[in-house]
Amino acid sequence: MADLKLDSKATINYSDILKSKMGKTGRDWTQIYAIYGMDDWQTPVFLLFHAVVFTILSVLFLLYFNPICYFFEALLPGVPGGAARFAAGFTGSVTALSAVCLFFAAGNIFYSSVSLHWEMAQRMVSVVNDWSTVKHALDVGCGRGILLNAVAMQLKKEGSSGRVVGLDRMKTTVSTLRTAGMEGVQEYVTCRDGDARTLPFADNYFDVVVSAGFLHTVGKEFGQRTAAAAAERMRVLGEVVRVLKHGGVGVVWDLVHVPEYVTRLQELKMEDIRVSERVTAFMVSSHIVSFRKPSQHMVGINEVRLDWRCTNIC
Ligand SMILES: C[S@@+](CC[C@H](N)C(=O)[O-])C[C@H]1O[C@@H](n2cnc3c(N)ncnc32)[C@H](O)[C@@H]1O
Repeated sequence: MADLKLDSKATINYSDILKSKMGKTGRDWTQIYAIYGMDDWQTPVFLLFHAVVFTILSVLFLLYFNPICYFFEALLPGVPGGAARFAAGFTGSVTALSAVCLFFAAGNIFYSSVSLHWEMAQRMVSVVNDWSTVKHALDVGCGRGILLNAVAMQLKKEGSSGRVVGLDRMKTTVSTLRTAGMEGVQEYVTCRDGDARTLPFADNYFDVVVSAGFLHTVGKEFGQRTAAAAAERMRVLGEVVRVLKHGGVGVVWDLVHVPEYVTRLQELKMEDIRVSERVTAFMVSSHIVSFRKPSQHMVGINEVRLDWRCTNIC
């Protein structure tokens, strides 16, 4: 198969690429939510609950400001009345501000998990120029299948005979295939249980490997910022590169750790490494990084064959 081309635009504004290629890609969030639901609905619900509690407290502060001042004066005997009033006002303001922040956080997490996740999946798909030549694609940590189905829809749209495999550690197969069915792309999708740290696929197999909002979750059990967690993430990245064909394209959207992926991809001698603009998702920074595995060279007498596995990095 000929090398897959990354989009050759110099400036990597993926939303522009997306708009120019696909036109309007927006989809009502209710439609997305109806099909995919949310990965972690407990977090926004938890935040929303506290936001409501803090809102009620702020309203109570406003309605009963004078009695609360008397309460503060009684609580802090000997402190001048003005100071007690200031303490009451300050507490009320902090409560109101906390309510606003909690509402914002709940909203941002909900938006990131539904509408933004959908939009980023569309952007990622638009990075590959020609899906019609793709035979084998892989989505690592496919979860509910937003990205998986975006790839499948693209394969369908471009009349490809290719298929996309969704890999996840949890037994998500039934629910993921159900979402593929709802999108009308089930014949393009297969699901497989497995661990991304030891991908159950042969070397140099996939034309395209994608992953969205997954890599940062690997190694969390060691603590996000630890060397052990970073080693686990690098191990997955090494696996992504290993299963990618020479000339194949990798596209990863992830939170926080993207600069470390870029460094590792450079060390692995990947080509065309491109990083998108910063997108705030789940209250932190995120980027899409895309790259191409170099085309295979003949291994001459003085040439070193690179080993894409990186199981011993720490
Ligand atoms: C946030 S979800 C990813 C959502 C998905 N990429 C999408 O576009 O809808 C993270 C997924 O990674 C899976 N996961 C976590 N650790 C894994 C591992 N070591 N190997 C494979 N999948 C893993 C989880 O089961 C979960 O479904």
